[in-house]
Amino acid sequence: MDVVEAIKTRKSIRGYKPDPVPREILTEILEIATRAPSSMNTQPWEFTVIAGDVLEKVKKGSVEKFNAGEPGYLGWEGEAFKDKCRERQVALAIQLYKSMGIAREEREKRTDWERRGFGYFDAPAVIVISVDREHAPRAQFDIGALSQNIALAAVKYGLGTCMHDQGISYPDVLKEVAGIPETQRMIICLSIGYPDGVLPADQVVSEREPIENITTWCGF
Ligand SMILES: Cc1cc2nc3c(=O)[nH]c(=O)nc-3n(C[C@H](O)[C@H](O)[C@H](O)COP(=O)(O)O)c2cc1C
Repeated sequence: MDVVEAIKTRKSIRGYKPDPVPREILTEILEIATRAPSSMNTQPWEFTVIAGDVLEKVKKGSVEKFNAGEPGYLGWEGEAFKDKCRERQVALAIQLYKSMGIAREEREKRTDWERRGFGYFDAPAVIVISVDREHAPRAQFDIGALSQNIALAAVKYGLGTCMHDQGISYPDVLKEVAGIPETQRMIICLSIGYPDGVLPADQVVSEREPIENITTWCGF
């Protein structure tokens, strides 16, 4: 599979088979992914790869907090998206809800959909990426490059991924159950597993802005 094909094939997968992902495959994916560039080759990332009983506990803990209405905490002051970003965010939600047959006024079903993310979309494995708290502000870009590498490498192994911050919204659960130390700041997590191929939302192809709308060409 060439790189362009992998880029075009990758999309967020939110429905997984329960089949476990072998540790050897996850290791290979992480080895490939850590070829990502990082600022001055600092490689600030650390992984916590969670599966089995531990993941079940994390899912349960996270969903319980969501059900209790506990606000999530991402470690930065998250302002709501505005303007064009907000429009694109809404467009995605419309696509996903439409695919799942969820109408605007069906609040309970929308909450059920949201809950899926806090349950890690029932993936058989999750990769949490964290960095030393002191390096967190500078490391965001590096983690972005790394995350995309993981998602692309996963495609080669027939695996689907969804990078999401819902899964790190309740960091205390991950600290307690998976032992992620206080000195680490979680930046993102990726659900990973074999796509079940039946979740209607996974048929959605999210939209992209045409290049002419977002590009200024100079000197051509
Ligand atoms: C930083 C980041 C955070 C994200 N958080 C979530 C999330 O919490 N829940 C979710 O369902 N998807 C999440 N996503 C996935 C995006 O919704 C998805 O990448 C986007 O809609 C584009 O769709 P695609 O990945 O299928 O191309 C996140 C993606 C990124 C890069």
